[in-house]
Amino acid sequence: MTDIKIAPSLLSADFARIAEQIATVQAAGADYLHLDVMDGRFVPNITWGPKIIGDLRPLSPLVFDAHLMIVEPERYVDDFRSVGCDRITFHLEATCHAQRLLAHIRSLGAKAGVAICPQTPVFMLQDILDDCDTVLVMSVNPGFSGQQFIPRTFDKVRELRQTIDDRGVPCLIEVDGGVGERNARELVEAGADVLVMGSTIFGAADPATELQRIRSLVSH
Ligand code: DX5
Ligand code: ZN
Repeated sequence: MTDIKIAPSLLSADFARIAEQIATVQAAGADYLHLDVMDGRFVPNITWGPKIIGDLRPLSPLVFDAHLMIVEPERYVDDFRSVGCDRITFHLEATCHAQRLLAHIRSLGAKAGVAICPQTPVFMLQDILDDCDTVLVMSVNPGFSGQQFIPRTFDKVRELRQTIDDRGVPCLIEVDGGVGERNARELVEAGADVLVMGSTIFGAADPATELQRIRSLVSH
């Protein structure tokens, strides 16, 4: 439990003060900046595209972790890579050709990830795990920050941990949605490697202190 990665989600940040908010979580020890890309079709919300991510890129050396909640992700991954996304994760439910897209993302020099919504069972990943650097398990239905964590996620993470360990693939398990002090430790004990947190961190009166508090909850 020593190398848990904390990924603040900018979806909950104040974009009028975005440079300051990024600097705050960076100084507090964040590992990734989680960037939620939504198209109003795959999910009922719209956020930002490559232009904004490219504008943010010079602000921080942190790993840019793009979570694409968009239909036809294969049309856009090159653009997200070219503006500096280090990890690119798309939804299994959004494409018929996940294996090809994972391989393509790796060929661009980025880490490739696939995300699953709460409806999608872990066994659907069996045949593409070798191609994944990340599996992102959604613990809410994607689209909005501040939603309630779905408890079934614990079992999904345990099952995925077992499968990954049995297969011996170096794939990280990322959990996204409703993560915070009430479930962070149990998620890590279940096998999570990366915790995405939006409202928990940016909704706190003091985001830096909150990040460090969660870090201490999962570090020993
Ligand atoms: C939701 C996004 C999340 C969101 C999480 O669809 O994928 O990354 O920002 O926000 P919280 O942590 O508030 O649930
Ligand atoms: Zn996300």
